Amino acid sequence: MKIITVSYRLPLSIKKTKGKAKITQSAGGLATAVLSYSAKSNVNLTWVGVADFDKATWDENKDNYDRNFDIEPVFLEKQLNRKFYNVFSNSVLWALFHYFPSFVEYTDEGFEAYKRANEIVAEKINSIYEPGDVIWIHDYHFLGLPKLLREYQPNAKIGYFLHIPFPNFEIFRILPNKAKKYILEGILGSNVAGFHTWDNTIHFTECIEKILGIPHKNFLFSQESHRTKAGSFPISIDFDKFHDAYDKENVVALRNEIKGLYGDKKIIFSVDRLDYTKGITNRLKAFEKFLEKYPEWSEKVVFLLVLVPSREEIKKYGERKKLIELNVGRINGNMGNYKWTPIVYQYQPVNFDKLIALYTSADVALISPVRDGMNLVAKEYVASRKDLRGGLILSSMAGAAKELKEAITINPFDAEMIAEKLYYTLNMGEEEQERRLERMQRYLKKHDVFRWAEKFLTEIETIYQHDTKASDMKGDAQTILS
Ligand code: ADP
Ligand code: F6P
Repeated sequence: MKIITVSYRLPLSIKKTKGKAKITQSAGGLATAVLSYSAKSNVNLTWVGVADFDKATWDENKDNYDRNFDIEPVFLEKQLNRKFYNVFSNSVLWALFHYFPSFVEYTDEGFEAYKRANEIVAEKINSIYEPGDVIWIHDYHFLGLPKLLREYQPNAKIGYFLHIPFPNFEIFRILPNKAKKYILEGILGSNVAGFHTWDNTIHFTECIEKILGIPHKNFLFSQESHRTKAGSFPISIDFDKFHDAYDKENVVALRNEIKGLYGDKKIIFSVDRLDYTKGITNRLKAFEKFLEKYPEWSEKVVFLLVLVPSREEIKKYGERKKLIELNVGRINGNMGNYKWTPIVYQYQPVNFDKLIALYTSADVALISPVRDGMNLVAKEYVASRKDLRGGLILSSMAGAAKELKEAITINPFDAEMIAEKLYYTLNMGEEEQERRLERMQRYLKKHDVFRWAEKFLTEIETIYQHDTKASDMKGDAQTILS
């Protein structure tokens, strides 16, 4: 028995420059979470995803990456992949599911490419599937996949997990009817449909009831071939990995370097993929408001803004980057001086050790998405603070806010409020920092990524076994009657 995990991105990326291949690990919450799980557990895992390299590059390099799982890349034709990923997945689904309806650019061509890509991936999975395998499908790129696989393998164990929010009915209904139906029927092909929060789960069940007219009983939808259980499974992190990294020699050296650079100044830190959902422009405006409102903090604080390049081919991402950079320049110009740069901005990825050094140097982590399925950065910041120092300011629009109850929560649209909370957190006493972090760490240590994966996989097994027993009993009853 193996677990076939399916996500758009494979956990590795291979880029060729001047004939030389460079293998890197993919960024983002999904890859980080599933990789942590597979590294620690003894599961037999095969990862299916769309390759960002060609077949020849794969054949040359597939053995040059240390891993304890198999990889089955899907090679999509370039134009199809572009329409599937950029045009439908990211310019329709991502925008709409994050409550940016005005950013949605729906085209039938994009939708057709999305369906075709789901079919190609279904064929690939079917070719490696063996009875008893569990198929674990991830994210909004593969909403049609559970149904397609159910048609191939009526008895398969299929789990579907959405890593982004599921929007409410009023937002979801904006999609053309054929797309709505495709998505909802698609997800219903699974035995378990998982979301980050109960709110998302309720939105999903409401859409099923209102659009497909299928009622549920305790979040269970009964269909002819199987039942689908919808539920909340908040994703998490490898707590120990982040907690223990505090003492790593390289991390200590980097932290000393960062602290040395800024001396007595307090450090506000944030790290995100550059994405319009992350509330980066709101964050910058709130920081500006903070400096205006509390001029005594001038020259006493620095904001380290790390943005990781993401989806650069999509227009809205390019526009957002320009806007962010305009704001950084404007704020630094207006508020800074020759001795002090208020915002230190980096548009490049950081490696793990640097990330931990930054987390553990920061007096405040300022995380302000305007909409986020979970936000793992918030959990990572808390876990990494072995010293129990620092404060977490977190948007109430992030799934993580439902769990990290000791965070200082903000409305990301309210600059005045963020400024006040920044002032409060920067002045927070050590006792309060410890109390808040200790409670959140206790929670995260228990609710880590391994528990998330175990709970989700166990739920698939439970629903599946129950349905198999029920259909056996039905069979027995029919035999007795006949
Ligand atoms: P999203 O999945 O929308 O990007 P999350 O906050 O949930 O947002 O997850 C971001 C993840 O990406 C975190 O686990 C973070 O540590 C990781 N990350 C941040 N920077 C990098 C990087 N340069 N390379 C790889 N992963 C990164
Ligand atoms: O969290 C949502 C998500 O799409 C993840 O699935 C992914 O790891 C991350 O954002 C990064 O996005 P992309 O794969 O488009 O670069």
